[in-house]
Amino acid sequence: MYYCYQFDQSLFLIFSMGTRMLFCLTMLSNIHFFLAQDENQFIYNGFNGANLHLDGVAKIHPNGLLHLTNTSILQKGYAFYKIPISFNTSSSASIPFPSFSTNFVFAIVSQIPSISGQGLAFAISPSMGFSQALASQYMGLFNLSNNGLPTNHVLAIELDTVKNPEFEDINSNHVGIDVNGMISVESAPATYFSTEEGKNISLMISNSDPTQLWIDYDAAKKLLNVTVAPIRSSKPNRPLLSTSIDLSLVLLENMYVGFSSATGPAASEHYVLGWSFNRTGPAQNLDISKLPLLPPKRKSNQKPSSINIVLPIVATVVLVIFIGAVYFVRKKKYEEVREDWETEYGPQRFSYKNLYIATKGFKEKELLGAGGFGKVYRGTLPNSNLQIAVKRVSHDSKQGMKEFIAEIASMKRLRHRNLVQLLGYCRRKGELLLVYDYMPNGSLDRFLFSRIKQNLSWFHRFTVLKDVASALLYLHEEWEQVVLHRDIKSSNVLLDADFNGRLGDFGLARLYDHGTNPQTTHVVGTVGYLAPELSRTGKATSGTDVFAFGVFILEVACGRRPTDLHGVPEDESLVDWVLSCWRRGAILDVVDPKLEGKYLIEEMELVLKVALLCSHPFPAMRPNMRQVMQYLEGNASLPEIQADSSICTSPFTPTNEESELVFSISSSYGKWSVHSMSSNE
Ligand SMILES: *[C@@H]1O[C@H](CO)[C@@H](O)[C@H](O)[C@H]1NC(C)=O
Ligand SMILES: *[C@@H]1O[C@H](CO)[C@@H](O)[C@H](O)[C@H]1NC(C)=O
Repeated sequence: MYYCYQFDQSLFLIFSMGTRMLFCLTMLSNIHFFLAQDENQFIYNGFNGANLHLDGVAKIHPNGLLHLTNTSILQKGYAFYKIPISFNTSSSASIPFPSFSTNFVFAIVSQIPSISGQGLAFAISPSMGFSQALASQYMGLFNLSNNGLPTNHVLAIELDTVKNPEFEDINSNHVGIDVNGMISVESAPATYFSTEEGKNISLMISNSDPTQLWIDYDAAKKLLNVTVAPIRSSKPNRPLLSTSIDLSLVLLENMYVGFSSATGPAASEHYVLGWSFNRTGPAQNLDISKLPLLPPKRKSNQKPSSINIVLPIVATVVLVIFIGAVYFVRKKKYEEVREDWETEYGPQRFSYKNLYIATKGFKEKELLGAGGFGKVYRGTLPNSNLQIAVKRVSHDSKQGMKEFIAEIASMKRLRHRNLVQLLGYCRRKGELLLVYDYMPNGSLDRFLFSRIKQNLSWFHRFTVLKDVASALLYLHEEWEQVVLHRDIKSSNVLLDADFNGRLGDFGLARLYDHGTNPQTTHVVGTVGYLAPELSRTGKATSGTDVFAFGVFILEVACGRRPTDLHGVPEDESLVDWVLSCWRRGAILDVVDPKLEGKYLIEEMELVLKVALLCSHPFPAMRPNMRQVMQYLEGNASLPEIQADSSICTSPFTPTNEESELVFSISSSYGKWSVHSMSSNE
């Protein structure tokens, strides 16, 4: 503007008016632009040019779609608004703690509809650095040592697609409010209130259309509301969660807002399509028509090209359908998938109708439990009065089904007194039903961890350990082919009427080998039980089963889950802790206090040392199941292991990336290996 001064007075006047107007105009558009970038308020209908800090595997697609994680396992993805938001929480501040509001549209897509992992969270955090946080059930927000600490100052609204018992998750499709840790303050199965229908309608947060979520905080009432609804519905007038909480006690003055997402042993794509935030009042509504599209699904549902053509056809068809409906519904109810090649498995086949009657129509009341593979129902077969457990596994892929059924047929021939007997199967569209012997005492974890069930004596615990070892030995070495279990943990061990341990779910992991993309490795298993080399090779072996068995022993002896580190010094995993107690000559410190000292010291010491041997970070150092059985039966003496000396014989030199994974999977077990390696040098 200064060049105006070079003109003479009159011209200058005209010019200055013009430029002033121009200036005003640019000011206005600046303000407009600034509003979109304002630290108090912003709206992104798609994220092109958005002021976001991305971390982990997160990226923004050319169409503006925010892609937090892809289907690689055990990954984290983050996107945070770059400018810290001021929450003025100090009591001296003249502005009180603000009411704020935000809404966003997300989508979660997994390759295999029945297994998603792990979830996504909206987070308010004092920092954008989450390098120490774990993937999987920690959703990239916390780790074993800081989970639940008030010093975290983190508020998260989680969209969780996996049921984690250690975090008291209610199901595998819930919305939760998390304060400083992964055990939700409050959570609810995903539903929304429909005013038209006057009731709650349930909603799948993964593998459905994009979904909207609203978070509204009323600072005066100290009330936090969370509401979800399908993208095309308007905001329901009843929130899903409405929780009293004083956020001024949780949040600090300067906080970052954004999204954290993680995949676990199973992986989903996590997307955010649009996001609106306002620190001082209601957030603006997103413009649904401007949101970026998701990448096309493999199965596209084609829409009719013109309603005009479709309408008359529909009118005719409706009549036909109406007439046929009664007949069709009847037939459909018990419909099965049966193919020619299955005739040879005839004896193994159950009819769906019988299973339906046995389980009283798969009633919720008959539900025994739900795991990574599907729901299990109790039933009584109509003709024989035989008690059974029916596991429903959804499985879309036709590919590989033949191989898997062949395997089921051979698994039916697996007979061992410590295996849950598989009785047969049934197939329906997109679904497989497996029929097992019913185990009246349910799963072992409920005896170990639930306050409701009676305590299990050391005699029973030691017996169960030997039972499971014997079952594994049978699977690994004594049958005609090697069967890997791949998911050994206390919730997969069942107790029969006499409290004998029976290993369940064997071989089921194979279902996901067949019929899925061979390029992507799906590590099946549970975090906390996965051997460190699994993250590098993705290949399950009998050695990875032995590792999980070691962790399982610790669960039984210490009465805690591998991820429950209550009272364990910071930076230590359960195995580390047992190891360090052993080094101090105080290995019995780790024993489950619920046993009240009632156990044989020699047996307990033996069991704990066998556990440490089995969960050795180097596969070559682990015993096989035959040796384990001999140690437990007292038929062979344990090798001398000095935790401090150089026990490392395997030339395992993790790169940075790998060691990070080793650390994050078996936690600081890495410390032991790093220690022994450096003493090797
Ligand atoms: C996921 O993203 C990461 C980082 O961009 C990449 O290395 C990996 O190959 C991707 N995985 C898949 C399955 O596309
Ligand atoms: C939260 O939900 C309650 C209960 O429906 C409602 O009365 C209140 O107005 C809501 N508050 C906000 C900030 O949305």
